[in-house]
Amino acid sequence: MIYIKNESEIVKMREANRIVGLLLHKMNDFVKPGISTFELDKIAEDFILSQGAKPAFKGYSSSGLPPYPASICTSVNSCIVHGIPSKKVILKKGDIIGIDVGTYKDGFCGDGACTYRVGKVSRDIECLLSVTREALDRAIHQARNGARVGDISYAIGSYVKQQGFFIADQLTGHGIGKQMHEEPIVSNNGMKKKGPRLRKGMTLAIEPMVNIGTNRVREVGWEFFVKDNSLSAHYEKTILITDKEAEILSEYEA
Ligand code: MF3
Ligand code: CO
Repeated sequence: MIYIKNESEIVKMREANRIVGLLLHKMNDFVKPGISTFELDKIAEDFILSQGAKPAFKGYSSSGLPPYPASICTSVNSCIVHGIPSKKVILKKGDIIGIDVGTYKDGFCGDGACTYRVGKVSRDIECLLSVTREALDRAIHQARNGARVGDISYAIGSYVKQQGFFIADQLTGHGIGKQMHEEPIVSNNGMKKKGPRLRKGMTLAIEPMVNIGTNRVREVGWEFFVKDNSLSAHYEKTILITDKEAEILSEYEA
C-alpha cells in the first residue's frame, strides 16, 4: 500500500528532509583530500543529533546482514552505494564519493544523497556526474499527480542509456515516510505509463545509480560495487507529489 501523507505528516517529512539537505550541503566543506570516511561519518552524526534528529541508517537491518553500523553511507569510486565509513578509507585527489544521509525525526524519515568530487576530477567523471544529476532532474519533472511510477523509471533509464552509461542492477528508489523504505519501488529502468499511479501527498526517494562500464554489480556485505570496477555516481532526493512540479524535500546545493 502506498501511503498518502496528510498536511501534518507532510510538515514532519519536510523537517526530517530539511536536515538531510542541509547536511549534504555542509559536506561540501569537509570532502577534501586526506579526510577519512570515518571522520565524515562522525561529522554527519554530530550534525544530525544537533538538529534533534536520529541517524536513520544506524542499526538498520536488511535481510541476512548485520545492522548497518554507521550514520551515513560513504561510497568511493567504484562503490555504488552503502559504502561503510572506515578509518582506512582516506580520500585522495581525483576520487568521487557518494554520501547518503538518512534522518528520523518526529516519526518520519528523510533520505538523500549526493556525489562529491575530491579536488579536480577527470572529464569522464564530470560527464558521469552531470548525466546522473540530469537523470534525477528529469525524473523529478515527471513525478506529479496522475503520472505513473514507470514515467519516472523511464525518464532515468532511457536518458542514461542514451548517454552511453549504465543503470546499476537491483538498486532502486522507494516510497518513504514513517519507514525509510515503503511502497512503491521506484526502479531506475522501466516503461512509461506502467506501474502505480502517483497521487498528491505521496512521498518518494528517487535515486539514480549510474555506472560507467557495466550495469552489473558485486555485493560485499552491505557494500555494492560495479562489477568491472568502473566508477559510479548516485544522487537522491526525497520529493512530495503535488498537482504541479514535485516539491523537493531534501533539496541541497552541491
Ligand atoms: N539511502 C539508502 C536507500 O535509499 C539506505 C541506505 S541503507 C542503510 O536505500 F542501511 F544504510 F540504511
Ligand atoms: Co533511498
